[in-house]
Amino acid sequence: MADDKALTFAIITCSDTRTLGQDMAGDALERAIAEKGWITKTHMLVRDEKMHISEGIRHCADDLGVDIVLTCGGTGLSPRDVTPDATQDICERNVPGIAEAMRVHSLQYTPRAMLSRALCMQRGSTLVINLPGSTKAATENWEGIVDVLPHAVSMMAGCGHE
Ligand code: MTE
Repeated sequence: MADDKALTFAIITCSDTRTLGQDMAGDALERAIAEKGWITKTHMLVRDEKMHISEGIRHCADDLGVDIVLTCGGTGLSPRDVTPDATQDICERNVPGIAEAMRVHSLQYTPRAMLSRALCMQRGSTLVINLPGSTKAATENWEGIVDVLPHAVSMMAGCGHE
């Protein structure tokens, strides 16, 4: 598979307080995906419950078969921030470099970037990336990793390096 295919995404916003209509961070990610010529297959909202987040990730990976699931929110240190834990419950392989790159990139904006527990993991041939929940933070984290995503998806499909 070539690195220039149109990638497919699911956005799962994890929030106890937001409605889908108020999900500005999710909307900003949807626009950023469209700007690259890529496709958002679904944009959903779930409450900050591990079971609901895991099931959302499972559905997007197994039933919809998207290349990449972006979760948005719930990566911090408060008791209700459980998105990385839900990701770990349902995914198989850790891809630490992507989460590390997001934090390194984000430290230029704020030292609080180190407070994100975000993970990036694989479930089968789907990549799951945890982004923080504010519009600013989600967009900045996205900018730090977006260029590597086509090659990541190509590798998950079994293609080597050109
Ligand atoms: N990363 C960037 N680029 N910009 C930000 O403003 N905010 C941080 C961090 N990562 C931030 C960032 C803060 S304040 C927190 S608490 C964590 O992301 C977790 O955010 P979340 O709980 O919304 O997932």
